[in-house]
Amino acid sequence: MSQLSQKEQWASKIGFILAAAGSAIGLGAIWKFPYVAGTSGGGAFFLVFLIFTLLLGYPLLIGEFVIGRHTQSDAISAYKKLAPHTLWHVTGWIGMIACFILLSFYSVVGGWIILYLFRAVSGELGGLSQVQYGELFGQLISDPFQTLLAQFIFILLTIIVVAKGIQQGIEKASKLMMPALFLLFLLLVFRSMTLDGAIEGLKFLFVPDFSKLTSEAVLYALGQAFFTLSLGVSVMVTYSSYLNKEQSLPKSAISIVVMNAFVVVLAGLAIFPAIFSFGMEPNAGPTLVFAVLPVVFNHIPFGSLFFIAFLILFLFAALTSAFSMIEIIVASVAKNDAKKRQSATWLIGILIFIVGIPSCLSFGVLADFQVFNRTIFDIADFTVSNVLMPLGALLISLFVSLKIAKDTLFDELRQGSTISKLFFDIWFFLIRYVAPIAILIVFLDVLGFLDFLK
Ligand code: PFF
Repeated sequence: MSQLSQKEQWASKIGFILAAAGSAIGLGAIWKFPYVAGTSGGGAFFLVFLIFTLLLGYPLLIGEFVIGRHTQSDAISAYKKLAPHTLWHVTGWIGMIACFILLSFYSVVGGWIILYLFRAVSGELGGLSQVQYGELFGQLISDPFQTLLAQFIFILLTIIVVAKGIQQGIEKASKLMMPALFLLFLLLVFRSMTLDGAIEGLKFLFVPDFSKLTSEAVLYALGQAFFTLSLGVSVMVTYSSYLNKEQSLPKSAISIVVMNAFVVVLAGLAIFPAIFSFGMEPNAGPTLVFAVLPVVFNHIPFGSLFFIAFLILFLFAALTSAFSMIEIIVASVAKNDAKKRQSATWLIGILIFIVGIPSCLSFGVLADFQVFNRTIFDIADFTVSNVLMPLGALLISLFVSLKIAKDTLFDELRQGSTISKLFFDIWFFLIRYVAPIAILIVFLDVLGFLDFLK
């Protein structure tokens, strides 16, 4: 029997969309967005984030899909196929390195969810006040043994699913859990918005105060837009390489963008009204949702049961994102070889765990180890979210518009869909000019090169 199995494909249209949406929807929307919005100015941050999502995120998502489906290749080979004998495949390497570092700290937060889940199941989380939840959570994440074990379990779950392959593993799991997550969020939002004083939270989220919008906040909004859509790291190139020609790329992309934005808004609506209603501060940082959400559940009948259900789905949302991070690396290493896939997934997963240990300890024994006022966890996050992802996105937008012939792009976009020439022209304009220029401006602004304009 030949070693090389046939290239796997998604079993269904909806399977691909859910898996890609599963990659997008995760800690970025539920954990990161609320705390970054909370420290970066609320409404104005949210508005800029939405603009970036639509004007840069959507076109880039289509761009990654085009590269992946056209080449049917992993992240490195795809660039090599389209631009042989050039250095463009470095874009794929940036994606792989970014995903490696990303999973190394993402799994830390995934582990926190597991720890919380154990506590919730054993009944230890019911009926505390928000201050007590804050304290309990602080203690929990500073315990090196428990957090490392939980991080390891999170990575182990990721390895087990991804080693199985895309149809059996990733696709089946996503189909079940994503819709359940939506439903539970609706319940949470309803409760949070009917708390006393909820309106202040809505104002914080929806009424922009541009005086709070610093250059850094704009960079964070850009990073957040790419982060939540899993862009710039060729994950979407890899996922769409398993796609047949019958699927409409623009339609798949818009459903992913809309679902993702929907979860971001739901998370905001679940959290900010509650924060203001309980008299808490929105700028608590990475621990924010873990201190706020249990209190909201305390205000719901059978809250502890719902909280357990929520944590399971939250964990799942994080896992479906983690699958995609490891998948891009595995796909590049194993290249459709089913046997290699198994061993590569295990090896890469374990390496990621080892590299992630210092990030995990950043909330405990290594908390005081800081460079430029940032812990190792913060540095890893900043490097991926605000440097590598925007840089990757810049390269991908240039690659698509400069290195792939316009006719080829148009043909690929029309496979499985009926887009007009006007749609194509607008998309091309956005990806060729608007995306790279906007990313460059945000970078230059943060580095201080545009200060003379102020
Ligand atoms: N989009 C994921 C989230 O919002 O949690 C994070 C992510 C997954 C980023 C996969 C990048 C990636 F390649």
